[in-house]
Parts: sequence; structure tokens; C-alpha cells
Amino acid sequence: MGKTLICFFFLFFFSVQKIDSLLVFRRFNISIWNRLSGGKKLMINCRQGKGEATDVVFLPFNGQWTIYFRIYPRTLIWCNIWKGPDYVQHAHFNAFIGKESFIHNVCGGRKPNVCLWQAQEDGVYVRNNAVGTFKLMLKWDTNISTNILF
Ligand SMILES: *[C@@H]1O[C@H](CO)[C@@H](O)[C@H](O)[C@H]1NC(C)=O
Ligand SMILES: *[C@@H]1O[C@H](CO)[C@@H](O)[C@H](O)[C@H]1NC(C)=O
Repeated sequence: MGKTLICFFFLFFFSVQKIDSLLVFRRFNISIWNRLSGGKKLMINCRQGKGEATDVVFLPFNGQWTIYFRIYPRTLIWCNIWKGPDYVQHAHFNAFIGKESFIHNVCGGRKPNVCLWQAQEDGVYVRNNAVGTFKLMLKWDTNISTNILF
């Protein structure tokens, strides 16, 4: 009886405290889609936390680039993107945070399990998976990013 109770409280505590642990080890994608006009390329460089950066990608018009990963506790993937052909206009954003709240509020849920970002002329959009609409999340800036590795 006592053991069951302890077990119960442990499970209760665990489920309340670690609700986001349901996400851990699930597979997820981030996809970035170049919808700039005039056939412009999009330059992409993403990083996971303070970890290694992805290769720099030059994505052709209408191309889609995907990172495929597993969610670990405190997963944070952020991206710098630049608009061609001069790569002056820039945007920096958190493309994925391993929290239900982020997945729900920003990406519109886990069906399908992808956060789909879209670069357009006026800024960076994200799709709401549940309804399929795109929302403007940030506008291009011309800041010189200090986060670039090259
Ligand atoms: C996630 O990416 C993988 C590998 O590119 C792909 O096979 C899978 O269909 C993608 N899933 C979604 C929901 O986009
Ligand atoms: C870019 O600069 C503007 C104004 O200088 C600032 O408000 C904004 O936060 C900066 N954006 C980024 C992504 O650093």
C-alpha cells in the first residue's frame, strides 16, 4: 500500500513537472522554404544551442531545406537566414524549442511533426500546422550578426 502510494505520488510529480518529457526522443523536422520573389536565393545557417552549426546552405527559389532531429530536453535550434542576391537583409529566429508551448503556439501542433518556416519578401513566416495558414513572425533586418561562424 505504502509503496503504491509513493509510486503514485512519484508519477504524479513526474507528470506535472515534466509534462514536456512526453516530447523527448520524438522525431521532429524543421523545414525552411524559399518563397522570395525574383528567383532569389536564400542563405541559411542553423545551430543547435551552442553546438555546431549546420553547413551554410544556398537554397534556390521554391526549394525547401529540412533538418531532421530528435527532441532532447532543452532542445533549441536557431537559424540565421539572409536574402539573396546580396545577403544584406537578415533574420535570426528560434526555429524550434523543445516545449509543447512552442510547438503548439508557433508551429501549430505536431500534426505533421514539422515546423515549417517560409522566407518571403517582407519577412519570415511560419505555418500553423493545424489550420495550414502562414503568419508573419519577423521582418528582415540589416543587423550584422555576430553569431556567424565564417
Ligand atoms: C521529416 O524529414 C524526413 C527526412 O527528410 C522526411 O522523410 C519526413 O517525411 C519529414 N516529415 C515531415 C512531417 O515533414
Ligand atoms: C536589429 O536591430 C534593431 C535596431 O537596431 C533591434 O531592435 C533588433 O532587435 C535587432 N534584431 C536582431 C535580430 O538582432
